[in-house]
Amino acid sequence: MPRRGARAAKWRISVVKWLLRETYPMAVDAAARRSAAAGGGHRPRHVALIMDGNGRWAARRGLPRTSGHEAGVRAVSSVLDGALEEGIEYLSLFIFSTENWNRPSAEVNALMRLAEEASESFEGHVERGVRFWWLGSEARLSPTVIRALHEAEERTRAGRAMTVAFCFNHGGRDEIVRTAAVLARRAATGGLDPEVIDEPLFARHLPLPDLPDIDMLIRTSGEQRISNFMLWRAAYAEFFFVDTLWPDFTGDQLRALITAFAARKRRFGTV
Ligand code: IPE
Ligand code: IPE
Ligand code: MG
Repeated sequence: MPRRGARAAKWRISVVKWLLRETYPMAVDAAARRSAAAGGGHRPRHVALIMDGNGRWAARRGLPRTSGHEAGVRAVSSVLDGALEEGIEYLSLFIFSTENWNRPSAEVNALMRLAEEASESFEGHVERGVRFWWLGSEARLSPTVIRALHEAEERTRAGRAMTVAFCFNHGGRDEIVRTAAVLARRAATGGLDPEVIDEPLFARHLPLPDLPDIDMLIRTSGEQRISNFMLWRAAYAEFFFVDTLWPDFTGDQLRALITAFAARKRRFGTV
């Protein structure tokens, strides 16, 4: 009888331990998200933009698609102004997706050239404290493009006013698969116990782990889809779809959407 009692007590302790291990990190994470959403007058900390519509903007003017992409880079300037004025901490720009390699090679090459020059187009913003991070894969990129993206990060690393993530050669599934591969390699070599893999640990191994979850996700050009963008970090984003084609989008429009965001009720699964 006492042996059975001891066995039952041991079993109860292991159930409690299991419950703590499984639910505690999620509860801490959810509480942090709730307080972030409630604080500071409900302002987004991380705004992400799916900058779509460059091709249609050019077609309407009888111009080649590449002119649309050049106009798209010019539009970024006004958006950075708006985001700085709003005190946005993190701004992500979806510039080239892992699926965009399927476009004609002349267009892909033009987009590569724009990426090489991108950070130099925003010197004034760098002086105002903008720093650039690159979120994306090196796969298929030329060494010149990789070097230019790393140099932009290096040159602007002191900036503290706002972090701008260039999502270039980025795919939401790609970053999840690469993260899974990193963890699998560590587990295979005995450096990681698979039992301890949970959501916070997985998030800490994503590329750019310091880039927080997206609060506000805007897509221009009237399309209403995510197109494989930051799938992990978009889990609880508020979505905004606007008809404006990207080259016509302005910092003032961004500011109006940030005001609309403040009226959204975020619940994170609670009542
Ligand atoms: C977005 O504009 C920029 C990139 C995807 C590189 P698009 O080039 O997709 O423009 P549309 O959608 O064809 O108008
Ligand atoms: C998404 O736009 C990618 C970028 C804005 C960089 P796309 O124009 O490539 O998306 P789909 O193909 O219409 O879904
Ligand atoms: Mg498009």
